[in-house]
Amino acid sequence: MATAAIMQQKNMPVHYSAADYDRYTTAAVSTYDDGIIRRLLQEYRLMGRGQRCLLDIGTGTARLLLKIAEHPELQAVELVGTDFFDDMVEQARQTIQEASLSERITIEQSDVHDMPQPDESADLIISRSTIHHWADPPRAFREIFRLLKRGGVAIIHEPRRDPAPESLAEFNRLRAEQGIEPARMDEKFTADEVRQFVVEAGLTRNALVLTPMKGPGALGMEVRISKAGWLRRSLVKLVGKIGLSPLKNPWNR
Ligand SMILES: C[S@@+](CC[C@H](N)C(=O)[O-])C[C@H]1O[C@@H](n2cnc3c(N)ncnc32)[C@H](O)[C@@H]1O
Repeated sequence: MATAAIMQQKNMPVHYSAADYDRYTTAAVSTYDDGIIRRLLQEYRLMGRGQRCLLDIGTGTARLLLKIAEHPELQAVELVGTDFFDDMVEQARQTIQEASLSERITIEQSDVHDMPQPDESADLIISRSTIHHWADPPRAFREIFRLLKRGGVAIIHEPRRDPAPESLAEFNRLRAEQGIEPARMDEKFTADEVRQFVVEAGLTRNALVLTPMKGPGALGMEVRISKAGWLRRSLVKLVGKIGLSPLKNPWNR
């Protein structure tokens, strides 16, 4: 059993309508979108670019996928967004249709705990602000690992219960501008609780939980899950230990 203070027994929807969520993410989270896209580009370049399949799990209204679709360097990447809740799936499909991107982005309805895709079907998986919505995070991590191809990487960015105060203040300022209530931090996890989920998932050799200390990324943590071979895994861990990220920190811009 996980040690986290708050464990959802079932999947949790967002606290407002899909339409409000769409308006808010369109207007207020571009800094965070940019950070994730820079991280994605780092991993994409490391794996040698080319034709790849990317899954955005818990895509919400797919605004982040829209930006990824427009990025010139990511044109060879097949994009699939998934969400569990009907209203999000409906809104995401509408958003994509309005942007004339239905050919480029597919939206599917599925639960992260029980995904329909076969083993090893995604090169890249992203998921943002979703872990605290999941009924069973360790099971979800195992499912994400199952879906990764050999050499594949998942980047899960999640707000943390104890963020850098200035990052939280800035985030809430952006929300307030859109008439959205301050973020509820009590329902989020700490990095140590998420590390415990990684242990429970049996993924200690394949996952790292990183906590940026400044910039917009300091609002949360990154869970990086990889299905890399032994050599690359050891290299990432070693470089992480001596404090020199091989990946220039994209959050500090
Ligand atoms: C805070 S929103 C984040 C949406 C999007 N990733 C973004 O950054 O804008 C969390 C999303 O997770 C979805 N969700 C919750 N439980 C899920 C599950 N078990 N499987 C897939 N998606 C889920 C919700 O419907 C919601 O769209």
